[in-house]
Formats: sequence, structure tokens, C-alpha cells
Amino acid sequence: MIFDTHAHYDDKQFDKDRKALLDSMKEGGVGTIVNSGATLSSCKRSIELAGQYPFMYASVGIHPDEAGSLNEETFAWLKDQLTNEKVVAVGEIGLDYYWDREQHDTQKKWFIRQLGLARDMQLPVVIHSRDAAEDTMAVLKEHAADLKCDIHCYSYSLEMVREYMKMGYYIGVGGVVTFSNAKKLKRVVAEVPVERILLETDCPYLAPSPHRGKRNSSLNLKYVAEEIGQLKGMSCEEVIAQTEKNAREFYGIAK
Ligand code: NI
Repeated sequence: MIFDTHAHYDDKQFDKDRKALLDSMKEGGVGTIVNSGATLSSCKRSIELAGQYPFMYASVGIHPDEAGSLNEETFAWLKDQLTNEKVVAVGEIGLDYYWDREQHDTQKKWFIRQLGLARDMQLPVVIHSRDAAEDTMAVLKEHAADLKCDIHCYSYSLEMVREYMKMGYYIGVGGVVTFSNAKKLKRVVAEVPVERILLETDCPYLAPSPHRGKRNSSLNLKYVAEEIGQLKGMSCEEVIAQTEKNAREFYGIAK
């Protein structure tokens, strides 16, 4: 069944119909969802959702846009959350020079500290990186060469993905791959071994075509799997089965 490795069902866009939508997942072919935290409050909400739904898990970490909300006290709180049995990863953490909401030094400092948490707790890491390709690679090479990482919503070059493959990392692929203008990403997906691809929505954002621009949900991942299948000469079902296996290995979630 479909494994959505990165979703944000805590988002207010789901306030009206969250329960009905999540209750329809199984019927829609979606078996497992990891809800990703980004702020202190969304980490809390992710853990609550994971507690409510057996098929949901949480990833806990502070997004670079929110790096300023971290201090020794909130960092200790974060570390505490990682002992929860439904918390399966640290993330999403990284660097974002597109929105550039926090000083680069602040972003890097807390990115590196949170990578340390993942090492201490022996958890995989979900990386957010936007317009910060070189710095992200430099930090990861120095501080995360021994960690299991997913470059979520991969948007960089073919050269860079080759480097990430050598490091044993995974890439997250979502709705963007179905866009007709996503030529670079299509080339990346065509080349990367399917064993290193994770399906993700990043919902409510980044709905695939034919629903581009609308609110996204895990039910749309079949369109992403179909596109990946076309790029790799596989059936949609094969892509779903293989990426579920990858996601279980990545997060350490047995069937
Ligand atoms: Ni996200």
C-alpha cells in the first residue's frame, strides 16, 4: 500500500474534514503516513495525530524558518519527544535561503544541533533544503555522513543527487514530478535507483496534476507513482510496492 513519507495533516487546511479524510485513507490505498513537524506546535500536533491513528507516525524537528524558536529549553523538550514510540525521525530540519527568515548562522547552528539529536537517538533525518544546495551538502558531509537521511522534496541537480546517492541517502519525490515543466526532476527520478526513492505529498501543498493548485492529500500519491513508473519503465503498482519497502527500511517501521 502507499506509504506517504512526509505530510502535514496538522495544517489548518484540514481542520474541517481531517477525521473523515484520514478515515478514508485505507480505502484509498494509503497504508502508512508520517506526519512531519516543522514548528514546536506542529511537532506536538504530529505526535497527537500519531497517537490517534495506528497507521500514522510522527517526525519531530524544527524547520529552518523557525530556527529562532530553538533555545536550550525548547531543544531539551524536542529531545524528550524523540523517545515517544510513534516518533520515527528527526525532521524536517535543514536550511532555507529562499524565505530566508532566519540568519544563515542561526539556521546552520540548529540544523547541526538537531543532526546531533538524530545521532544520539539513532533516528533517520528528514532534510528540508531550499536555495541552499551547497551549504546543505557541506553541513551534511561534515555532520551527517554516518546518518540515514531523506532529502525531502528533492529540487536540486543531477550532479548533486549522484553525490547524495554515494552517501547512501534517499530522496523524497512528490507532486512536482508530474508537472510538465519539471524537466530537471524528471531526469533525476529517471536516473536514481528506485530503491532510494520515497513517495511524499508534503500535503496540503504541492498537489500533483491533474489536481495542481488544489489542496493535496495522500490519496493523490497514485498520480506520483504513475509518473515515476513511466520514467522508470515500471507499473504504478510496482512503484507503490517498492517505495513502501524503502520507506519501511528508512523509518524502521516493520509491516
Ligand atoms: Ni514539509
